[in-house]
Amino acid sequence: MNHVVLTGDRPTGPLHLGHYFGSLANRVRLQDTYEMYVLIADYQVITDRDLPGSIQRNITELLLDYLAVGIDPAKVIVFQHSAIPELNQLLLPFLSLVSVAELSRNPTVKDEIAHSSQQAVSGLMYTYPVHQAADILFCKGTLVPVGRDQLPHVEVTRLVARRFNERYGEVFPLPEAMMGEQPLLKGLDGGKMSKSRGNAIALSATEDETAALIRKARTDSERLITFDETNRPEVANLLTLAGLCLGRAPRDIADEIGYGGAAALKRLVTEAVNEFLRPIRKRRAEHTEGDVRRILAEGNERARERAVITLGEVRDAMGF
Ligand code: TRP
Repeated sequence: MNHVVLTGDRPTGPLHLGHYFGSLANRVRLQDTYEMYVLIADYQVITDRDLPGSIQRNITELLLDYLAVGIDPAKVIVFQHSAIPELNQLLLPFLSLVSVAELSRNPTVKDEIAHSSQQAVSGLMYTYPVHQAADILFCKGTLVPVGRDQLPHVEVTRLVARRFNERYGEVFPLPEAMMGEQPLLKGLDGGKMSKSRGNAIALSATEDETAALIRKARTDSERLITFDETNRPEVANLLTLAGLCLGRAPRDIADEIGYGGAAALKRLVTEAVNEFLRPIRKRRAEHTEGDVRRILAEGNERARERAVITLGEVRDAMGF
C-alpha cells in the first residue's frame, strides 16, 4: 500500500517523552518509506484557551523538537494551519456532514472539557475534530500516527470521508490510525502525561531538569521493586519509561533493582532517560531559528499546493 502519512501537534509547549513513544518514533520510522506531512496545528491552539499565547515561540520550539528527534525536512512536509487557507475552507462542507449529537459524543472532547479551566466551552471545542478531518483529508492522508486519545478524531475523519463520498462521489480515502509502541505513557504523578499538568519530561529538558522531575515522581514505600501495573501503577510507569528508553523489558529492570527501593529505581530511570535524550539534545542544538523559518516556508508552500488541488476536487464534486 502506498500510504500518505499525516499527523501533527498543537504548538502549546514543548513535546515530551509521551509524544515520542506515542507518535514521534513512528514518524521518524515512516518518513523513509512514505509521503509524509507533519502539521503544526496552530489554529487548534485556541480550542481550549482564549488567546494563542506565545505562538511564534512555541512554533519554533515545536519545529526544533521535530528536528531534534530526527524528522528530516528533506523527506517530510512540515506546515501550519494558518498558512493554508484552502485546508481551513474544507471545514465548511465537512461540518455539514456531521450532526450536533455526533459532535457532542466525542470522548476526547468530553475529557478536554472536563479538564478545561475556561469559563465557557467554545464552539471550536466541539468542532475541532472536524477541522482535524480537514487536516487529514486535504492531502488524502491514509495513515495517521497518533496516541490513543486521538482515535475518536480519526473516527470522525472516517465518518466525514465516508459521507462525503456517499453524497458527492468518491474523493477521499478512509484513513487509519497507527498507534505507537506505548500509546499512553502516564505522567510522573500517575495521571495522563501532559504538558499542561506539569508531570511530563520534555524532550528539551536539561539533564538537571530531568533528574529533578524524576526525583519528584510518585512511588510507594515498598523496598522490593516489582512490575505490577494494577497494584503499583506509579512504579510500573517508571519501569515502563526506563524500559522504553533502554529497549528492555520493564520486568527485567525490576528484577535487577530488587530490594533497592524507590531511590535505586529513580536513579536508574534518571540515567536511562538522560542517556536516551543525549543525542536528541545534541541535534536540537545544531539548528538555528533561520533553519526553522526556511523549513516552514518551504513546507507551507508545498502543503498549500496540495490543498488547492483537493479543494478544487471538493468544489467540483459538490457542483460549486
Ligand atoms: N489534536 C492533536 C493533538 O492534540 C493535534 C492534531 C491536529 C493532529 N491535527 C491533527 C493529529 C491531525 C493528527 C492528525 O495532539
